[in-house]
Amino acid sequence: MCGIIGYIGDKQASPILLEGLEKLEYRGYDSAGVAVLDGDKLSVRKKKGRLAVLENEVRERPVLGSAGIGHTRWATHGEPSDVNSHPHLNAAGDIALVHNGIIENYMRLKDWLGEKGYAFVSQTDTEVIVHLVDYYYNGSLLDAVQQALGRLQGSYAIVVASSKHPGELIAARKDSPLILGAGEGENFIASDIPAILNRTREVYLLEDREMARVTRSAIDILDEYGMPVQRSLFHVHWDVSAAEKGGYPHFMLKEIHEEPKALRDTLSPRFKEESMHIDLGETGLDDEAMRSIRRVVIVACGTAYHAGLVGKYAMERLIGVPVEVDVASEFRYRDPIAAKGDLFIAISQSGETADTLAALRLAKEKGAQILAITNVVGSTVSREAGAVMYTWAGPEIAVASTKAYTTQLLCLYMLILEIGRVRGAIDEGEYARLASALRRLPEQAAEVLALEEAIAHSAHLHYAMTDTYFLGRNLDYAVALEGSLKLKEISYIHSEAFAAGELKHGPIALIERGTLVIALATQTALYEKLASNIKEVKARGAHVLSICPEDADTVIGLSDEVITIPNTEELFMPVLSVIPTQLFAYHCSVERGYDVDKPRNLAKSVTVE
Ligand code: M6R
Repeated sequence: MCGIIGYIGDKQASPILLEGLEKLEYRGYDSAGVAVLDGDKLSVRKKKGRLAVLENEVRERPVLGSAGIGHTRWATHGEPSDVNSHPHLNAAGDIALVHNGIIENYMRLKDWLGEKGYAFVSQTDTEVIVHLVDYYYNGSLLDAVQQALGRLQGSYAIVVASSKHPGELIAARKDSPLILGAGEGENFIASDIPAILNRTREVYLLEDREMARVTRSAIDILDEYGMPVQRSLFHVHWDVSAAEKGGYPHFMLKEIHEEPKALRDTLSPRFKEESMHIDLGETGLDDEAMRSIRRVVIVACGTAYHAGLVGKYAMERLIGVPVEVDVASEFRYRDPIAAKGDLFIAISQSGETADTLAALRLAKEKGAQILAITNVVGSTVSREAGAVMYTWAGPEIAVASTKAYTTQLLCLYMLILEIGRVRGAIDEGEYARLASALRRLPEQAAEVLALEEAIAHSAHLHYAMTDTYFLGRNLDYAVALEGSLKLKEISYIHSEAFAAGELKHGPIALIERGTLVIALATQTALYEKLASNIKEVKARGAHVLSICPEDADTVIGLSDEVITIPNTEELFMPVLSVIPTQLFAYHCSVERGYDVDKPRNLAKSVTVE
C-alpha cells in the first residue's frame, strides 16, 4: 500500500522525507521517490526497488531545500518502474504530486487531457491528477488542486508541491487517509502517523473531501467548498509499532479487519456505473475466449489452493465446465494434461511462489490459456501469465493469509459470473441477483467481524486443546480446509479437515471425549447430512462448535457452541464463513502466546521449491 510524507520547515527536507518513508516501509512498496523545493527549483528523485536504492540516488545526486514530498508506491496501475513511481510531474516540471488511492475515471480523463495536448509518460492513474492541476492553474495552487479534484472519481490522498509556490504544500483526501503534523516552525503531512512520530505527536486528522494548505507556520484546513474548518489537535500517545499496525496488536488482526475494505476495493473497479455487467477487460479474456473454454485447471499452493477449491465448486455448479484443481507442487511433477482450450488459472497472493510459477510455465508450454489471480502488480506470476486479474487487497504482511483469500474468492466469483453470462449458462436475472449479492459482501463481512468478541471467547475456552477437526461438505469442506490450515500454522494446534461424509471411513476413530470439532454448515441442502455427522461425533464425546447461518436449525440444535453468520447466496458463503475461522485461529495463537505474524518455520513468500 502506498505511503505519503510531506515536510515544510527550516530543516533540510530530504533526510526527513526519507526517514518518514522508512517508517512506512512496513506497508509494503515496490518503488519510492521524493521531490524537494528549493526556491524556484523543484528536484525529483525516484527509483524502483527498495528505499535503499533511492537513498543511494539521493546521496549521489543530493536534493537541497526545506520543503518536499515523498512517496512509497505499491503498484496498481502500471508495473513497478522508475517512471511509474511518484512524485509525478507536469510537463513544465514545476508541479509535483504524490497520490495514494485509485482514480476510477482516469482513462476518460486521460483521453480528455490528451485532446488538450497533454502527453503522458507513465502508465499510472496518478499522472492525470498532476496534468489536471496544471490545466486549472491560474495563479493559485490551492484553487487549481480544488478544481482538479472536482473531476476525479475514486479514492485519493494527495500532496502537491510547486516551485511557483515554494512556501506551501497542498494536501487533500477522499477515502484514503491523510494526517497533518504540527511542529515548531515546521509542519508535516503523512498518510500514516508512524511517518512523522519521531518529529511530532500533535496531529490534525483530515476528513474526507477536505483540503489543507500547509506552510512552515500554519496549517489551514478547508472543506470541499474552500471554507475554513476549525479542527482540534489530536495528541498521539501510541508507540511507533502500534501505529504501524493501525492500533491493532498484530498485522494479522489488522488484515482480517481490512477484509470489508479489501473486498470493496476488489469489487468496485469491476462494477462500472455505465455498465450492467462486470468489467473484466483487464484480463484480456474476450467473449470468444470465454466461449471456447473446454476445461478449467486451477493451480495454487496453501490458502490460494483452498480458494481454488471454492472456485471449482462454484464454477462447475454455475457454468457446468469441468474444473480440475491441483496443488502446484503436485501438478508440476505429474505429467499433467493441459492443452489448447483449457483455461489455466494460477492463484498466488505474492505472485512469486516457485511451485505455482513452475506449474504456470508448464501449462503455458502445453498451450493452455493462462490467467493469474494475484495481489502483487508486476510480480513474476503476473508478468508471465499475460492475462491478470488483481485482488486489490493491499499488502498482506502477516504470514497467515486472510484478506488475500477472501479477495481471491471474489475474483473467482466475478470471473465465473462473466464466463457464465457470456456462455449463456447464467441468464440476466440470475446474473443480476448474484452480482447484487456480491456487492453486499463487504458490508456482511463487517457484520461477521462484529462477532469477534464471541469468537475470542470460544478461542479462550479451547486454546489449550491438542487436536481439532474441521468438518464440512462441498463448499464448506473447502472452507474447512482453509480454517484448519489457519489454525495449525499460527497456533501449532494439530488440526485436520475432513469431508464430513468421509468420517465413517476412518477419521471418526480420532474422536474422543472433549475433542473439538468445528462444523461448517452453510449449504441448505446439506444441513441434514451435516447434522447426522454432528450426531456421529457427539455420540463419541466431541464438543461441537458450528459456524452457520441462523436458518440452520437442526445444526444449531445439536451444537454445543454456535457462531451465526449472515446469509448470502450459498455459493458466496465461503467469504463470510471463513472469517470466524481466521479470528478463531488468531485468538488461539494469542492465547498460546505465539508470534502470530511470524509463525515458526514459515515464510510469507515461498520462492524456493
Ligand atoms: O503467495 P501465494 O499465495 O502463492 O502463497 C501460497 C501459500 O504459501 C500461502 O497461501 C500459505 O499457505 C499461507 N501462509 C497460508 O496462510
